[in-house]
Amino acid sequence: MASFIKNPFRPPSFFFYLIGLSCLFEVSTSVFNGSAKTTPSLDTISGGHWFLLHSSVGVSAMHMQLLKSNKVVIFDRTDVGPSNLSLPHDKCIRSPRGTDCTAHSLLYDIVSNTFRPLTVHTDTWCSSGSVNPDGVLVQTGGYGEGIRKVRTFPPSDDNRSDWTELSTKLWERRWYATNQVLPDGRTIIVGGRLAFSYEFFPKKSANDGSFSKLYYLSFLKETRDPYEENNLYPFLHLLPDGNLFIFANKRSILFDYNRNSVVREFPIIPGDFKRNYPSTGSSVLLPLRLDWRRNGTVLPEAQVMICGGSPPGAFNMSNRARIFVSASNTCGRIRVTDPKPKWVMEEMPMPRVMSEMVLLPTGDVIIINGATKGTAGWEDAVNPVFNPVLYLTYEPDPERRFMVLNPSRIPRMYHSTAVLLPDGRILVGGSNPHKLYNFTAYPYPTELSLEAFHPYYLDPQFVPLRPSIISVGSRQRIVFYGQRFSVVFVLALHRPNLGISVVLMTPSFSTHSLGMNQRMLVMEVVSLAQLSTFAYKITVGGPPTGTVAPPGYYMLFVVHAGVPSPAVWVKVQ
Ligand SMILES: *[C@@H]1O[C@H](CO)[C@@H](O)[C@H](O)[C@H]1NC(C)=O
Ligand SMILES: *[C@@H]1O[C@H](CO)[C@@H](O)[C@H](O)[C@H]1NC(C)=O
Ligand SMILES: *[C@@H]1O[C@H](CO)[C@@H](O)[C@H](O)[C@H]1NC(C)=O
Ligand SMILES: *[C@@H]1O[C@H](CO)[C@@H](O)[C@H](O)[C@H]1NC(C)=O
Ligand SMILES: *[C@@H]1O[C@H](CO)[C@@H](O)[C@H](O)[C@H]1NC(C)=O
Ligand SMILES: *[C@@H]1O[C@H](CO)[C@@H](O)[C@H](O)[C@H]1NC(C)=O
Repeated sequence: MASFIKNPFRPPSFFFYLIGLSCLFEVSTSVFNGSAKTTPSLDTISGGHWFLLHSSVGVSAMHMQLLKSNKVVIFDRTDVGPSNLSLPHDKCIRSPRGTDCTAHSLLYDIVSNTFRPLTVHTDTWCSSGSVNPDGVLVQTGGYGEGIRKVRTFPPSDDNRSDWTELSTKLWERRWYATNQVLPDGRTIIVGGRLAFSYEFFPKKSANDGSFSKLYYLSFLKETRDPYEENNLYPFLHLLPDGNLFIFANKRSILFDYNRNSVVREFPIIPGDFKRNYPSTGSSVLLPLRLDWRRNGTVLPEAQVMICGGSPPGAFNMSNRARIFVSASNTCGRIRVTDPKPKWVMEEMPMPRVMSEMVLLPTGDVIIINGATKGTAGWEDAVNPVFNPVLYLTYEPDPERRFMVLNPSRIPRMYHSTAVLLPDGRILVGGSNPHKLYNFTAYPYPTELSLEAFHPYYLDPQFVPLRPSIISVGSRQRIVFYGQRFSVVFVLALHRPNLGISVVLMTPSFSTHSLGMNQRMLVMEVVSLAQLSTFAYKITVGGPPTGTVAPPGYYMLFVVHAGVPSPAVWVKVQ
């Protein structure tokens, strides 16, 4: 049942009257430094605000993917019994479990704050996904009859779009695997429960036309703990040199998937804590800052940050003895492109397990959802953390990097999700730490609600500082590798000393505290020209290669004085 509640979020549109005023000729030109760090100081920003978008969308949001249609595909498992969202009568699903006339997926429209049910035919439980260069969601694996399935969802919506199940199957059964989009546009799918291997989709390589197959990866077996595992949903990040960073349990490698060889092993992350499912921490590739002055010949440096997790034995304790041990409050940050990389450890203001790490267009990170005690798994955690934490990526003083933000009132435990939206909000949903839907379970009932967290930059006092994009590059909004492009935007109050940056951000696939494919690129600013009283044209160098920015659709934001514009979608190719 679609709902038509008014969206409480209205992006300030007061700039639109200014567009008419700008007469688009250059009145002055100044070369910029391309400063990326412009967040106002902690003393001047608020802890953000929460808004309930829907008390129920009828399905618990175990997985979320934003598409370029500005709609979010949300889905759960299909074997939870009936959901609270009905399917149209002609769409009932018949499976060995019986006939199910309820939906386990929906399409959420972020602009109108409405949704409609979608039809998933086989079980998508604890699966993975990515968006291909054409903007199509490619979702892989699941459970039972769905464990080797590949399903797609189209990038544009005619109000009838729905899931397609492909006849091609994965080589391996993949439950709790991780996906990453590659420079050639394929997806690599790594690991899963008792799946010590990786494979590609599509199976045919664009480069040499050969059919790839299943590749064994002993690292995935070596990092598996007896019974507890602690290596599921491995953390994957495509690094600028084209190799893959893979982290599982406490270890990480630089992996050449073309040659099936480990290029190097990074130091073990310090401390006792395990970081992967069910000791679920989270991992983020910090923003890649392009250095166009060196003309794209030098690849950007890359840093990975991993936060939260649980100590050894935590899952045994919660699962068998119902004793919930404290999660980790540590984050490890490592410059993976250094010749001798080292983990630098930091402490969050509280312990966290099952939190999502979401990159903001400012380059900072929001750590959101989860609990302070226990692990992932059914009934395996207590003490929800209601407060997100803001991590200031570029703050030089380590004592001033974390800020505790305003709390939600809804526990977001196991099976909750969070994604960045093009308007700068964070969409938050899910939480179902039970085997089936249970709305009376106390204190963590199955959550069917959707909320939005508004970071400080959406506060009213920042409206005059917020840029609004008029046009990007060519009419088709394509960003070509190795080329410059320009963005025209309007801005009421320019603060030249606070810097302007142009960033590209992927829409990530959120599940189990991972943002698969989450990636942010800070463009190198070449010039800034003022076109009229309120209009500006910024010229930047685009990403040099597909290893730095895999092909596909990105959200482009102009960030001024720590305040991002609403994004426009561009295609990088
Ligand atoms: C540009 O950056 C350099 C080095 O970081 C700094 O010395 C210089 O003052 C900056 N120029 C401007 C105009 O901000
Ligand atoms: C879901 O539906 C059941 C059965 O109609 C109802 O008892 C429950 O309150 C609903 N839950 C939510 C969160 O709407
Ligand atoms: C889809 O449905 C919405 C709401 O009913 C309507 O406003 C919109 O025009 C429809 N879009 C298409 C492509 O039919
Ligand atoms: C960068 O490379 C392009 C193409 O190779 C060339 O046209 C341009 O002049 C170079 N720019 C600089 C600053 O070296
Ligand atoms: C968890 O329990 C299993 C089964 O008893 C045991 O094999 C394993 O060593 C335990 N792991 C830890 C870390 O306690
Ligand atoms: C729901 O949770 C309550 C309280 O935890 C429990 O007593 C009840 O058996 C559960 N219901 C179902 C259907 O599992």
